[in-house]
Amino acid sequence: MQIALGSDHGGYQLKEEIKKLLTEMDLKYSDYGTKSTESVDYPDFAIQVAEAVAKGEAERGILVCGTGIGMSIVANKVKGVRAALCHDLFSAQATREHNDSNVLALGERVVGRGLALEIVKVWLNTDFEGGRHQRRVDKIKEIE
Ligand code: RB5
Repeated sequence: MQIALGSDHGGYQLKEEIKKLLTEMDLKYSDYGTKSTESVDYPDFAIQVAEAVAKGEAERGILVCGTGIGMSIVANKVKGVRAALCHDLFSAQATREHNDSNVLALGERVVGRGLALEIVKVWLNTDFEGGRHQRRVDKIKEIE
């Protein structure tokens, strides 16, 4: 599984931790930046990751900013992207099973490193359930 990663300055440290986790999990990733804690604008990074997922260059995307909110707002504007902002394990599992989310948004200033990395693991390891949930995802696609 190829994963597209992106953050702004508010999510930079957590993005770097996620890169270590993905390496441990033997997963490939592309890092779309940012490359430091210097102040940048989150839409510039969210759009790159969202487009990589929408074009099929990456199967999933993970975006981190201070709250995760700005990243999720931007990513959800791209057709084909279903971005989920998750700060608990139940949501991370449920959004994969029910929404087939293909982008995870996280807020570095909201959750600690340990929980954030567990959320990433659960989100990556949970399959879409299909069935009645497929019908609902199809309705999202009709809206697009
Ligand atoms: C940057 O200060 C902050 O606004 C950004 O990281 C994010 O939280 C936006 O939603």
